[in-house]
This record gives sequence, C-alpha cells and structure tokens, in this order.
Amino acid sequence: MASVREMDSGTVHYSQGHAESVVRSQAWRTVDNSAAYLAAELRPGLRVLDVGCGPGTITIDLARRVAPARVVGVDLEVSVLEQARATAVSTGVGNVEFVVGSAYDLRGVLEASGPFDVVHAHQVLLHLADPVAGLREMLRATRPAGVLAARDADYAAAAFWPADPRLDRWLEIYRAVAHDNGTEPDAGRRLMAWAHSAGAGDVTPSASIWCHATPEQRAWWGGQWAERIISSTIAERAITSGRATTVELADISTAWTEWAEHPDGWFAIPHGEILCRVPPLSNRSTARKSDLHESAQRRN
Ligand SMILES: C[S@@+](CC[C@H](N)C(=O)[O-])C[C@H]1O[C@@H](n2cnc3c(N)ncnc32)[C@H](O)[C@@H]1O
Repeated sequence: MASVREMDSGTVHYSQGHAESVVRSQAWRTVDNSAAYLAAELRPGLRVLDVGCGPGTITIDLARRVAPARVVGVDLEVSVLEQARATAVSTGVGNVEFVVGSAYDLRGVLEASGPFDVVHAHQVLLHLADPVAGLREMLRATRPAGVLAARDADYAAAAFWPADPRLDRWLEIYRAVAHDNGTEPDAGRRLMAWAHSAGAGDVTPSASIWCHATPEQRAWWGGQWAERIISSTIAERAITSGRATTVELADISTAWTEWAEHPDGWFAIPHGEILCRVPPLSNRSTARKSDLHESAQRRN
C-alpha cells in the first residue's frame, strides 16, 4: 500500500507551482518516454529512490520494473504526493511509497530505508537553486556499485514551428522567470558539469528529445501551456516581476491554442541525461589503498 509520510521540506525554489495544468503535464510521463536511458539498468529486486517525484507516474513505472523491491518517491509538495499515492492505488502498484522530503536533505529517507541501488531525478535539477548540492546528496543516497540517473530539459534549445513571435516571448519569459528564481532552465547541457562538480567520477552522458507534433500531442502540449501561461506560479511571477503583462500572457495563451490547432504545429525540446556510477566498495578501498600508497611515497 502506498503511504505518505512527512519529513523536513528544505528550501523551495520551484517556479512551476502545482496548478492542475502543471501537474497534468507531468502525469503522462513514463519510463519509456522520460527515462529510457535508465531502462537497461532496471531489474527486479533493485531498490529505487525517485527524488522530486511529482505526481509519481514515472515512480510507479519504475516500481513495476523492479518489483517486488520497494520504491520510494520523495517530493517537497504534499498535494502531488497525495495524487501519486492515489495513482499507485488505482493502478494496483503496491511496492511504492511517497514521502515528503527535500532533495537537499535525504537523511530521513536514508535512515528509514538505507542507501538505494538506483537514485533517479527527472526534471528536478533545473528547479534547484543549487543543483550540485542536490546531486551530492543524491550520490550520498546511492549505495556502492549503484547508479544515480538524472534527466533535465534544456529550454534554450527548444524549437517550434510555425514561427510565432508570441511563442518566442513565451520561451523568453519562461527562462527569465526561472533565472529570477535562482534556477537554471538550460540544465540539459550542464548536467555532466554539475555531476563532475558534485564529485561523480564515472558519468555516462546522453541526450533525448520530446517532440510534440501529432494532433493529439499538440492538443495536449499546446492546451496545457495555453492554461499554464495565464494561471500558474509562472504567470504570477512573470507579472509581479514586470517581465510580462496580463495582456501579453493572454496573447501567448492564444498563440498556444492556435499552434495546437495548426496542422504544421511542431515542438521539440532536447534533454540532457546522466548515469553516474558509484564505485563498488572494493574499488573504493583499492582507490584508498593506492591513495595511501601514493601519499606514503610522497612522504618518503
Ligand atoms: C517538473 S516536476 C517533475 C516531477 C517528476 N519527476 C516527473 O518528471 O514527472 C519537479 C518536481 O520537483 C519537486 N521539487 C522541487 N524542488 C524540490 C526539492 N528541493 N526537493 C524535492 N522535490 C523538489 C517539485 O515539487 C516537483 O514536483
């Protein structure tokens, strides 16, 4: 049975908010469309931690792939965890639990569950003011010989057609609000650098793209942005910071509706991905031994 426990929340920098349109845009996500780079690592029995799990559809899919092992989803936001829990119950996935907690401080989760074979974070680092500190904490939560997996969008590299200056402004405003909030929307290209700064030694980088271009995909993607840009935390922040006016956001909303209805409408956004392999204990002790050997040699 999925459960929700409360833990320390940590600093909130999440500029998206949790409006229905935002959470809806996250609820279609699966391992196949959002974590395919990790799929080959998953097998029954592996213990998985999903950090910043949101409405939990990826978490639940991860749980299906590692059953009967237990998967833990962590997020700062109680309301999305309640939704995740309800989805786990309605889809009959019982080997998952959802707890409130912060990517910056996973001590509570570690005390309750011990380190994990796989620690996963999807579209989370781009919402952290200090993604390197987040990655460092996630590495700490990964057991020796385990893997940390992260995937994030790179908004500056997003492309769409037909050309529309109102959608250019959408991208400008989205990125400006994220930067005002102290976060990095062009995260995909930086993932490997952040992992290196966090101390990861063995990093496998890759990239993949979300493309929304069929009539159904356009209706969904354009439809949720037509709502989000006028009624979500991004909209509020764009207006209060003076980055946009209500009238301009309404125009952008119309542009998304028109884009969704346009038979040539095409949108794609690349994502960076990293798999960071934590060395097994034997390598660590070998590494430590060789460090000791080297420093002994230096002393002599
Ligand atoms: C874009 S959503 C991604 C949700 C989910 N991983 C997915 O891809 O469907 C980002 C999530 O990270 C959560 N979040 C933001 N900052 C966090 C932090 N410091 N610790 C834990 N979760 C955080 C937000 O509440 C939100 O649910």
